[in-house]
Amino acid sequence: MYFEIEKITARETYNLLIGLVAPRPIALVTSMNEGGGLNAAPFSAYNYLCTDPPVVGIGVMNKPGGAFVPKDTARNIRRTGEFVVNVVTEDLAQQMNICATDFPEDVNELEMAKLVTSASQKVKVPRIQQAHAALECVEHATIEIGRSRIILGRVVAIYIEDKFVDLNGPYVKAEELHAIGRMNGLGSYVKTRDAFMTMPRISYEEWKKNER
Ligand SMILES: Cc1cc2nc3c(=O)[nH]c(=O)nc-3n(C[C@H](O)[C@H](O)[C@H](O)COP(=O)(O)O)c2cc1C
Repeated sequence: MYFEIEKITARETYNLLIGLVAPRPIALVTSMNEGGGLNAAPFSAYNYLCTDPPVVGIGVMNKPGGAFVPKDTARNIRRTGEFVVNVVTEDLAQQMNICATDFPEDVNELEMAKLVTSASQKVKVPRIQQAHAALECVEHATIEIGRSRIILGRVVAIYIEDKFVDLNGPYVKAEELHAIGRMNGLGSYVKTRDAFMTMPRISYEEWKKNER
């Protein structure tokens, strides 16, 4: 099948694209409004984009419906310039899903999901205490594009629970962290447990030797 974007709806494009760009990591983003009210919501249009300097990107659509109303996360980040990406692992999956509910603006998703927070080191926005890892970010730029916003966040500090850090690198003990990823939007997710294979990079010299 072949789909020309101009001939299909935005919803159809969404369905197809998120099924193909998968699995995706999930950022459970905590943010704060001007009054100090906390917000938490998951985003899988998310990845790191570069590491020197360390920058992550998050794609946030407008609130559902025809009006151009930004989601609370995007509005908060524009107004207060900070956020925290909490890494979503298997044990946080249910709570993460509750945070995606379209609650009214004044409802604190963290309370609804029975999540508590811990102070961050470099930003005012707290991280989620139950999350095993979190990235403290300051807004680098928000790019408005059609009905969405792409938020670029500069990572200013990284929190990882000690037991998940291999000090040799340091590396993250990814086999033990059990992060989950989002698949095609039909409520399906992927576990990373047992999903590891090791494939060292090959140098050009090694490649030439093996070709002969
Ligand atoms: C796993 C998952 C991934 C999601 N990814 C995105 C995303 O990348 N972009 C987006 O706009 N909404 C995404 N959503 C929907 C938002 O989480 C949802 O609209 C949420 O209510 C927004 O909250 P806020 O208005 O408090 O920011 C996702 C939902 C789930 C469950």
